[in-house]
Amino acid sequence: MQTVIGNQLATAIDHLQQQQLVAIPTETVYGLAANALNEAAVIQIFEAKKRPRFNPLIVHVPTIQSISTYAHLQPLAEKLAHAFMPGPFTLLLHKTNVVPSLVTAGSNKVAIRIPQHPLTLELLQQLPFPLAAPSANVFGYVSPTTAQHVYKGMQGIIPYILDGGACTVGVESTIVEVTNEHTVIVHRVGGIAVEAIAAVAGVPVILASEQQEATAPNTPGQLKSHYATTTPLMVGNVASLIAQYPNQNIAVLGFNTLYPQLPEQNQYLLSPEGSLNQAAQRLFDTMRLLDTAGYDLIIAENFPNEGLGRAINDRLHRAQVQYK
Ligand code: TXA
Ligand code: MG
Repeated sequence: MQTVIGNQLATAIDHLQQQQLVAIPTETVYGLAANALNEAAVIQIFEAKKRPRFNPLIVHVPTIQSISTYAHLQPLAEKLAHAFMPGPFTLLLHKTNVVPSLVTAGSNKVAIRIPQHPLTLELLQQLPFPLAAPSANVFGYVSPTTAQHVYKGMQGIIPYILDGGACTVGVESTIVEVTNEHTVIVHRVGGIAVEAIAAVAGVPVILASEQQEATAPNTPGQLKSHYATTTPLMVGNVASLIAQYPNQNIAVLGFNTLYPQLPEQNQYLLSPEGSLNQAAQRLFDTMRLLDTAGYDLIIAENFPNEGLGRAINDRLHRAQVQYK
């Protein structure tokens, strides 16, 4: 199959209506999309990504009003929806019968998101069905934030990549669930800061996902060896890790400060001006760059654990799991 990169909505719509896969831009990462209401279309997502079927998919819709067809929106979840949708924010809700159980991996809950990207919002508005879409990477690898990243993994496997430019947020959506109207559980930290959710929610906000390891995704985003580079990656005290590996060709992935232990050209600062949002935006692109630059080892520092720094730390720690 030939994979075309373009910015034609009509072409994307054609493929999706024929139950084929299309990679779509969002503000977080690129998604690998199919008609969420058609099982034959959705199956292809799992096959293209080599993703296990027990890992459910986010359903992307165009408006808050359209959510009620697919899920039950209670008052507190609706309040959060109005605060953060469209945006890098996903609500885990009780599903209706309209959503195939293949999409939710048999769960009675469905993850719903309204992406804030003009091209994809327009696409969702024009389509007569919602889009099931995981990140458009091969399962376990670093998520794609450009059409070229998608092409590297999906070339020859999908017919069309809708090119909407580089993703502006750069880390996946924050996944949230409201339980019994009195607690907000954050299942995956992401593009909306936990602090922002707490400011709106008016009830306790609990981080469920951050350090927990699981082999099955009872809580989202919890599979081991996610976001992993092929080159070994370690997170921690950079100076002492450098000292532990004296004969390795090391790249340092840092925030805004250079380390005197290593030449400057081996160090990659995600935001010299110290912006966590900019660092998040550049994280996956830089991880992919370092992965193909011939280093023996990537050493990342822990970022400030606030705002989007939480999502950065979460992705970095998951990327290192399999090398422990
Ligand atoms: O920003 C994003 O959320 C991107 C863009 C493309 O929208 N999507 C994304 O999808 O990151 P994915 O599949 O790579 O990660 C979604 C996570 C997975 O860990 C999955 O297990 C979880 O959400 N998830 C999806 N539906 C779920 C459900 N019904 N119940 C529990 N977890 C669910
Ligand atoms: Mg993913």
